Amino acid sequence: MSTDRTAPRAGTGTPAIEVRGLTKRYTKRGVVKQAVDGLDLTVERGEIFAVLGPNGAGKTTTVEILEGFRKRDGGQVQVLGEDPALAGRAWRSRIGVVLQDPRDQAELTVRELVHHFATFYPAPRDPEEVIAAVGLEEKASTRSRQLSGGQRRRLDVALGIVGDPELLFLDEPTTGFDPQARRSFWDLVLSLRAGGTTILLTTHYLDEAAHLADRAAVVRDGKVVALGAPADLGGPGALRPVVRWEADGVTHVERTDHPTALVASLAARLAGPDGEVPGLRVLQPSLEDVYLELIGAAPTALPTTSSAEAVPGLPSDTRSSAVPSVPVAEEASR
Ligand SMILES: Nc1ncnc2c1ncn2[C@@H]1O[C@H](COP(=O)(O)OP(=O)(O)OP(=O)(O)O)[C@@H](O)[C@H]1O
Ligand SMILES: [Mg+2]
Repeated sequence: MSTDRTAPRAGTGTPAIEVRGLTKRYTKRGVVKQAVDGLDLTVERGEIFAVLGPNGAGKTTTVEILEGFRKRDGGQVQVLGEDPALAGRAWRSRIGVVLQDPRDQAELTVRELVHHFATFYPAPRDPEEVIAAVGLEEKASTRSRQLSGGQRRRLDVALGIVGDPELLFLDEPTTGFDPQARRSFWDLVLSLRAGGTTILLTTHYLDEAAHLADRAAVVRDGKVVALGAPADLGGPGALRPVVRWEADGVTHVERTDHPTALVASLAARLAGPDGEVPGLRVLQPSLEDVYLELIGAAPTALPTTSSAEAVPGLPSDTRSSAVPSVPVAEEASR
């Protein structure tokens, strides 16, 4: 496929997407739901940007407003320099869209659909190359209603990229993919970025965000609650090891940059006759743990802060929190 453009389309000055104070509410049977609640977002040209967040956080609502498919209530939105609510066909031909729930064209074959969609764009990719790029060559003559869930999703991706868009929206693109299909989809997304395409992706797979995204935003209740490179989400220290131990019937947990020193100090102070510190575990928070903290669903074995009571005898630069005894959620050796 035509991902061999040597000059990325990045860097024309303005960001690909700029959102300030976006709001959207739905009213259903008299009940008002504030789906997007003052959301700010900037996506630079040429980057892969992931939007993470729990079900109902407002991701699809936001993305569909950016795609021009939904009206907003308030806020400023610029996508490729235009307001999607006012933009016309020329603007639309510059974006590619993979919806979370696409409409069905059940009776058409894969080949018919991809070729048909290509005609909507001024400079489309070669449809046959696109079919191959998403791994649907063997299914090219199959009607879309006869595809499996994952194959149908690959077709959605093909339809999203056939126009060779400057900006591609992918709303949970890999839901239903088997692991191998997900990996080849990741390669495809990275090759699109290498060709200069800007990509906004929503996903529930944190490994996907970590593998693909230059930056990620965590959305909760219609607002961005964290923003940064996937590895930096949660702020400095979020991925610091956590030491957990028991003393006097209470479980203590503590984040520390110096787990060895802390364990040595605990061993000197608390080791029993068998040489073991009761309940001692050194845990390595994963990106998933950090994410669960950010959306307010932290596993109880990991402290959200390290500001609780100091434990006598510990190094002075560390603090710990005491929590009731709980099962260990994450082990360092996972
Ligand atoms: N057309 C609609 N009418 C009424 N309420 C809606 C509509 N679309 C979305 N909502 C509500 O708005 C909120 C945000 O929904 P949205 O689809 O944007 O979430 P999401 O972050 O994409 O979630 P998911 O991860 O499940 O896809 C939810 O509470 C949802 O029920
Ligand atoms: Mg959604």
